[in-house]
Amino acid sequence: TARRWRGPGGGPALSRGLWPLLFGVSVLTVLNSAGLMLLLLQHAQLSERLAQMDVHLQELLGERAAPLPTGVTGDPEQLIEHYQYSRDKRSQDDGPPAGTQRDEQQEMMMMMTYSMVPVPLYNDSCQLGERGDLGDKGDVGVAGPPGEKGDVGVAGPPGEKSDVGVPGPPGEKGDVGVPGPPGEKGDVGVPGPPGEKGDIGVPGPPGEKGDVGVPGPPGEKDRKDATFTKTGNMSCLFHSFSVKSVNVHLVKCVICFNPTENIIKALLGPINVTKMESTFGTWMQDTATENDPRIWVVEHFSGRIVKEYKNMESFQNGSANSIDVKKFFQGCGHTVHNGSFYYHIAGTFKVAKFNLQTQQLYTLAIENALYHNLIYFLHNSKTYFKLAVDENGLWLIFASSIDENIIVAQLEETTFSITTYINASYPRTKAGNAFIARGVLYITDAKDTKITYAFDLFKREPLSVSVEFRAPTGILTMVSYSPKNQTLYVWDNSYVQTYDVVFLSDD
Ligand SMILES: *[C@@H]1O[C@H](CO)[C@@H](O)[C@H](O)[C@H]1NC(C)=O
Ligand SMILES: *[C@@H]1O[C@H](CO)[C@@H](O)[C@H](O)[C@H]1NC(C)=O
Ligand SMILES: *[C@@H]1O[C@H](CO)[C@@H](O)[C@H](O)[C@H]1NC(C)=O
Ligand SMILES: *[C@@H]1O[C@H](CO)[C@@H](O)[C@H](O)[C@H]1NC(C)=O
Ligand SMILES: *[C@@H]1O[C@H](CO)[C@@H](O)[C@H](O)[C@H]1NC(C)=O
Ligand SMILES: *[C@@H]1O[C@H](CO)[C@@H](O)[C@H](O)[C@H]1NC(C)=O
Ligand SMILES: *[C@@H]1O[C@H](CO)[C@@H](O)[C@H](O)[C@H]1NC(C)=O
Repeated sequence: TARRWRGPGGGPALSRGLWPLLFGVSVLTVLNSAGLMLLLLQHAQLSERLAQMDVHLQELLGERAAPLPTGVTGDPEQLIEHYQYSRDKRSQDDGPPAGTQRDEQQEMMMMMTYSMVPVPLYNDSCQLGERGDLGDKGDVGVAGPPGEKGDVGVAGPPGEKSDVGVPGPPGEKGDVGVPGPPGEKGDVGVPGPPGEKGDIGVPGPPGEKGDVGVPGPPGEKDRKDATFTKTGNMSCLFHSFSVKSVNVHLVKCVICFNPTENIIKALLGPINVTKMESTFGTWMQDTATENDPRIWVVEHFSGRIVKEYKNMESFQNGSANSIDVKKFFQGCGHTVHNGSFYYHIAGTFKVAKFNLQTQQLYTLAIENALYHNLIYFLHNSKTYFKLAVDENGLWLIFASSIDENIIVAQLEETTFSITTYINASYPRTKAGNAFIARGVLYITDAKDTKITYAFDLFKREPLSVSVEFRAPTGILTMVSYSPKNQTLYVWDNSYVQTYDVVFLSDD
C-alpha cells in the first residue's frame, strides 16, 4: 500500500523540498474547504468514524483492529499536527518503506486525511496505483445536487373545471374619452395680463409755445383753409388743413356752433326696447350708415363676441349672428360707426377698429390714459375708454392717468388716428357716464340721475346745463347719442331703452 505514494520511476513521488509547500497548501485548502468546516463542526464524530474506518481497514488487511495512532484525537488541530508528523516522517524515508504494521497503519491514516483534500490537488500530487479488489458497497451517500431539468412530459388529461378565479388586476388605462358636453358659463374672469406693447402712438397734442427760435431755412408751407356758411340762424365753419409734420394730410371738421341753440334742453323717455338678462351691456346701431336696420349687442363688460341682429324685430325676439372681434373688449363704451365696431382692448391702452365686413382689425394706442387696475374712467360701467359719435364724427373719451381729468380725443376714422386732444377739465370721480352731441360733451352725475356737466369741445369751455335723466335705481351701463336718430341709446339695469333728445334749437 505504501507504493501508491511513490513516483513513476519508483522514487519518492515528491521531492523533500516540496513536502512543506504541499503541506502548507494542503493546510490552507483544508482550512478553506467546506470539508474542513464540516470537520470543525463535527470533529467528534469524525474522530469516531476515523477510528471505525481504521478498524475496518485493519480487518480488510486481515489484521486485528488497532487503536488510533498516538496523538490522533478529536481535536482537528491535533489531527493536522498528526498528519504533518506522519508526512514528515514518511518524507524522511529515502528507501523502500519499512513495511512494519505501524507504518502501514500510518500510511492508511495518511490516505484518510488526504482524501479530505480537493480532487484537483489530489490529482496533481498523486498517481494512481494498480486497481485493487472491489470494495464492499458503501453506506448510502448524502443527497446529491439537484439534477438537470427533464424534458417536457406528455400532456396530461384535461383537468376538472375549477372555481371562478379571483378578479384579475385592473386593466390598462383606456383611450381618451369623447369630449363632454359644454360646461356651464363661468364666472367673470379677472382682467387678463397687459397685452403686448402697442404700436408707436400718434403724435401728441401740440405743446406750449416755445421761445422764438433762430430763423430757419425756408420750409414747406402748411395749408389751412376755412370757409363759413350760414344756413338760417346757424353758423357753420368748414375748414381743412394739412400739416406736414403730422401724418394727417386732410382733416375736415364740420363745426356747427351756436351753443345756446345746440345744448340739450330735455331728455324724453325712456322707451323700453327690450329687456336683457345681463345687467351690463351695450347696444348699437350704425351711427353713420344710412338705412341700416341692424342692431349690434354686447352682453357683459368683457368678452370678444358681438351679436348682430338683422333688425329691431329679430333683436326683440331673439336670433342673432355671433361675431368674434378678435380681441377681448373691456367696459361698455363701444360703438358701431360706418361699418366698424370700435372698442377698448381689455388690459391695454389701445382701442380697436374692427371692420365688420372685412374682419380687419386696426389698433390705436392712447398714451397717458387710465386703462387697467380697476381705476375706471366710468366706474358704474367698468369702462376705461368710451367711444362717442356726434354730427362731427368719432370721438374717444377717457381719463388722464396724470391727473384723472376727463380727456376727449377727436379721431380721424379713415386713418384711425387722433387729430386733437381736449382737456374737459372735469374729474372722472364725479362722472357717472358721458356722451357727445353736436360738439358738446355731456357728463352725468355719479348716480346717473341727471346731466350735470357740459363742455363745448370746439370753444373748449364749460357750458351751464342741468337736465333730468332717470331715477337713481339700478346700474346704468350705457348712454350713447346717435346723430342719425337724435336719440340716446341706453342700457339701464338690463333694460334696453331710447330717450329722445330735445335741443334748445328744437323749440
Ligand atoms: C483526476 O485524474 C483523473 C485521471 O488522471 C482524470 O480522469 C480526472 O478528470 C482528474 N480530475 C480532475 C478534477 O482533474
Ligand atoms: C332758428 O331757425 C329755426 C329754423 O331753422 C327756427 O325754427 C328758430 O326759431 C330759429 N331760432 C332763432 C332763435 O331765431
Ligand atoms: C322700462 O324700464 C324701466 C327701467 O328703466 C322699468 O322700471 C320698467 O318697468 C320698464 N317698463 C316696461 C314696460 O317694461
Ligand atoms: C334709427 O334710425 C334708423 C334709420 O336711420 C332706423 O332704422 C332705426 O330703427 C332708428 N333706431 C331707433 C332706436 O329709433
Ligand atoms: C320674430 O321675428 C320674425 C321676423 O324677424 C317674425 O317673423 C316672428 O313672428 C317673430 N316672432 C315673435 C315671437 O315675435
Ligand atoms: C364711411 O366709410 C366709407 C369707406 O368705407 C367712406 O367712403 C365714407 O366717407 C364713410 N362715411 C362717413 C360718414 O364717414
Ligand atoms: C386739465 O385742465 C385742468 C384745469 O382745467 C388742469 O388742472 C389739468 O392739469 C389739465 N390736465 C391735463 C391732462 O391737461
